Amino acid sequence: MQTRCKMARMASLDPVALIARKRDALPLTREEISALVEGLGTGKVADYQMSAWLMAAWLNGLSEDETVALTEAMLHSGRVLQLPTVSLPKVDKHSTGGVGDKISLCLAPLVAACGVAVPMISGRGLGHTGGTLDKLEAITGYQTRLDVRRFEKIVRQVGCSMIGQTAELAPADGRIYALRDVTATVESIPLIVASILSKKLAAGLDGLVLDVKVGRGAFMKTPAQARALAQALVRVGTRAGCRVGALLTAMDVPIGNTIGNALETREAIEVLADAGPADTRELTLALAERMQLVAGVTHSRAQARKRAQLALSDGSAMECFLKMVKAHGGDVRQVQTPRLLPATRCQVPVLANRSGWVTDCDAFALGWLAVRMGAGRLRAEDKVDHAVGIELTARPGDKVVKGQSLCLLHVRSPKAAQALLAPVGAAFVIGRSRPATTPLVLTSLGAKSSRE
Ligand code: URA
Repeated sequence: MQTRCKMARMASLDPVALIARKRDALPLTREEISALVEGLGTGKVADYQMSAWLMAAWLNGLSEDETVALTEAMLHSGRVLQLPTVSLPKVDKHSTGGVGDKISLCLAPLVAACGVAVPMISGRGLGHTGGTLDKLEAITGYQTRLDVRRFEKIVRQVGCSMIGQTAELAPADGRIYALRDVTATVESIPLIVASILSKKLAAGLDGLVLDVKVGRGAFMKTPAQARALAQALVRVGTRAGCRVGALLTAMDVPIGNTIGNALETREAIEVLADAGPADTRELTLALAERMQLVAGVTHSRAQARKRAQLALSDGSAMECFLKMVKAHGGDVRQVQTPRLLPATRCQVPVLANRSGWVTDCDAFALGWLAVRMGAGRLRAEDKVDHAVGIELTARPGDKVVKGQSLCLLHVRSPKAAQALLAPVGAAFVIGRSRPATTPLVLTSLGAKSSRE
């Protein structure tokens, strides 16, 4: 019966009419959106027709009902995992992308050590931002492509597993994202919401915490844009049946001291060893609190923080990471002894051209420079160099003297550093007075935000 209804719906699918309706800013029904997405999968909707519809959606927007319908249609374009053998609440985190954002690597095992299952589906670098999969693959042998049964087994046995999106999970997102990428339709809140949520919810989550980044180094440049995205993600995710919380966090300067894959993996391992830079640690703990609250394993923010701090200090979070790396085929010796991670022989300092206070450090500029060094991709088919990157030796709020190192360029040869010295130096601003400190977590929304 269901199949006949589906066939009848498909038979009456008229992509041109649906494009025209969106072009004229008229609403589409849930069934029409579902048919459109299904039609893309079956070939009844051509790529150029979907592209035209996406542009109409970009120009005229989608209502919340339409965004929910699009999210669910994309989610159900593939398998939705149930992970029936995982009895703990399943919660994931998604960051909208930043520079030096290695938080997932330390956060997933930390939260798993606090009694929450973390089936994490991660991505690769996008534009100037880094990607979790590239950082994990800095560990020799770590497999980010696993079949669903193995993924489930690792989540059950270890508490967390981090893999890439597979062709089985939300395939419509892969198709639609590729079309958006080449038709100037990426920057649309409803389309971003459907893309992020369809992928994440395909892991069969009970809860999701979003780290919506705002600032120069983020895709959302203003607090108003970031808040609108966070609110849309929370509302649509909640309507799709998931408990969703969000933090708005600052992304003007890089997170922590490192940009580049192996360097960031090393810093995440430092956090798991109960050390690491203060901001990396703080953001990890803030998100760990929120994930525990969304999971319902505690109702108190203070208790959630205490539990996470304990998991860092008693070594249980590190133990979890070691087990996950082992289960994914990675070299655990590189976790136990991080200097065994891929590294360049050559490190070239970038020097302060005057004395004073470091007042700013441009995450966007450094993110792109790291991509140029080979830490990210300029074209989809590019291979990343896991060893290269930028290590900050001074941050906003630090006092420096002329000639002191601001950062180290981890490069393959001194020659490779030459063209980088001036633009990397220009990303730092040195002023006469100490800059005011700015908060890292700007605000929180969604599940549990009102009880703090
Ligand atoms: N990240 C995604 O997964 N999708 C978008 O559309 C934008 C960022």
